[in-house]
Amino acid sequence: MLEKFERYPLTYGPTPIEKLPRLSAAIGADVEIWAKREDCNSGLAFGGNKLRKLEYIIPDAIAAGADTLVSIGGVQSNHTRMVAATAAKLGMKCVVVQEKWVPHFDAVYDRVGNILLTRLMGADSRLVEDGFDIGIRQSWEDAIQSVKDAGGKPYAIPAGASVHKYGGLGYVGFAEEVARQEADLGFRFDYIIVCVVTGSTQGGMIVGFAAQDRADRVIGIDASATPAQTRAQVRQIVDGTAELVGLGRAVREDEIVILEDYAYPAYGVPSEETNDAIRLAARTEAMMTDPVYEGKSMQGMIDLARKGYFPKGSKVLYAHLGGAPALNGYSYYYKDG
Ligand SMILES: Cc1ncc(COP(=O)(O)O)c(C=O)c1O
Repeated sequence: MLEKFERYPLTYGPTPIEKLPRLSAAIGADVEIWAKREDCNSGLAFGGNKLRKLEYIIPDAIAAGADTLVSIGGVQSNHTRMVAATAAKLGMKCVVVQEKWVPHFDAVYDRVGNILLTRLMGADSRLVEDGFDIGIRQSWEDAIQSVKDAGGKPYAIPAGASVHKYGGLGYVGFAEEVARQEADLGFRFDYIIVCVVTGSTQGGMIVGFAAQDRADRVIGIDASATPAQTRAQVRQIVDGTAELVGLGRAVREDEIVILEDYAYPAYGVPSEETNDAIRLAARTEAMMTDPVYEGKSMQGMIDLARKGYFPKGSKVLYAHLGGAPALNGYSYYYKDG
């Protein structure tokens, strides 16, 4: 469905799918867990899900003659790291607004992990006090204006590269890629697990898998803790993306599955159960997940498996979207492992 769209390559290509036998055994629910390693998708600053989205956004930025990418996220935003990486790779400038999205007070939170990498890549990282909100923000509008005032040509990329006309396309491609890999593997996955916050990762997947008539097998695990807003944003992205790619039908409400039970206590703050899930994936498979996003979807997948949500013998594909650099901002939780 993506042939008519221009793509600027930022990733290595299709991401590997690997079986996780030790994690499956440790969960002990007679389900086979596999992972699609979006976290290993590129050599650009540790990669992650945003690059798949940016591949379809960057041609528009180049066509617009932009010289500065402007975006927004939290202090430990993976997304702003990926925008900074893309700008560095393209030889553009980059301004990123980093809001106080997370009530977390590790002493070096604003100096390590994602923000450290963002600064190293030369981005102008602007810390502001505003709290968590996945919507369009005044601080971002101000940053865009400041680039114009200085005579630059900004290209605006919203939080998570989500509420952008082309933001959902990358993960439509993910669904097509999974289908090709399944043909090689000789079986189909029964469920796909994905963390959801700003919405275009799951939104794109839903459109892509809707074309294969299995969008309801994409299980979104909310990590925003504002699930109504996230769901509304996913709906909006699904509708816009379906129209754009010519899906040819409306996506039904029951094809948008988002589970709200794992985002507690707040966006960016891990629960004890999140940390246990992070430890389990690390100790069984050396697969690193983070306390903001992937640890919560890992927690959700483990809990759902143990509760019998997946019928016995199911093959479950965990979409690992990246995010491990944020672990550095949470060192106190893991000082004893
Ligand atoms: C590592 C990681 N996982 C999951 C997500 C959620 O994806 P989305 O914002 O597209 O819903 C993000 C970004 O927000 C992320 O950086």
